[in-house]
Amino acid sequence: MTNANARTTITTVTLNAAIDKTYYMPAFVKGKVSRAAKVVSTAGGKGLNVARVLKQLGHAEVAATGFAGGYNGQFIVNGVKEAGIRSEFVAIPGESRLCMNFIDEGDGSSTEVLEPGPVIGEDQLERFKRELQRLSAESALVVFSGSLPGGTAPALYAELIALSRAAGADVFLDTSGESLVRGVTALPSFIKPNEDEIVSLLPDSHDGDLREGIRKLMAQGIPIVAATLGAEGAVAGAGGRIYRVRIPKIEPVNTVGSGDSFVAGYAYGHVRGWPIEECLRYAAAAGSANALSETTGDVDPREHARLLREIAVEEWL
Ligand SMILES: Nc1ncnc2c1ncn2[C@@H]1O[C@H](COP(=O)(O)OP(=O)(O)OP(=O)(O)O)[C@@H](O)[C@H]1O
Ligand SMILES: [Mg+2]
Repeated sequence: MTNANARTTITTVTLNAAIDKTYYMPAFVKGKVSRAAKVVSTAGGKGLNVARVLKQLGHAEVAATGFAGGYNGQFIVNGVKEAGIRSEFVAIPGESRLCMNFIDEGDGSSTEVLEPGPVIGEDQLERFKRELQRLSAESALVVFSGSLPGGTAPALYAELIALSRAAGADVFLDTSGESLVRGVTALPSFIKPNEDEIVSLLPDSHDGDLREGIRKLMAQGIPIVAATLGAEGAVAGAGGRIYRVRIPKIEPVNTVGSGDSFVAGYAYGHVRGWPIEECLRYAAAAGSANALSETTGDVDPREHARLLREIAVEEWL
């Protein structure tokens, strides 16, 4: 018999995976030829950040799925495998996205160019759903992260959440805008809105009372709501209680992917059945450790352990 508690795999879903390519140049001038001194390419996408950080934190069984197409798709799949993550990406026609970031080392500016990515056809989506069903049936937890690809409906996450849950997996959702608003109607176990995302979830809450907002979301049937506030830590709700997560002041290097790292840290504790306070501490330490690294979705376990000792979680009465 399948016992959900005996499952250890965490599956992350990245429907809009990309190659993140960063060009470091002495100067970037619009309309002129610029020469890059250094180029760094990584397999990108929010779910892949979660998967990578889970591995860095020491979770053994991590699988990653989504769509991968063309040479870029092959690069993404190779990157996933090199990180020790099981690649379960569904091959699609066309080319996965390339997202370019031009860093001007003179003035420190960053100029991004983001490709739209391939449009997903009906057949490919059906194939993906079958894959997700199979993976969910062996996973303790499925984490859905990031934006939806072109050609898909904004309610897609709601449908996928229902599918994973029916296969016996627990479900987390971390996305934004319309896909978040529609996704929460399927009542994922955990959501992690940042400051902007909280506003889109609670458009009528003008009073800015975060505690009330979190209580409303819990009343809708979402068991764990973690609102992350960047350098200000986080406020979370679970089991009818509200918690304040206080983090130490650090000198951030690159905070992109700190939310994804927070999700990874929370997932690590959640599948182990840790108490909420411990999950939140682990999560916030991962978010802050990521902010100390130049690379997106990168947690040094030693920094994580050090930060963990400096984070306090208390009930906010
Ligand atoms: N400047 C910072 N200093 C210290 N810790 C930070 C900082 N920024 C983020 N963190 C840590 O990371 C967590 C998540 O950050 P944040 O609220 O910025 O997520 P996010 O906007 O969803 O990020 P992303 O979507 O890029 O992954 C915070 O709760 C905190 O623990
Ligand atoms: Mg985020």
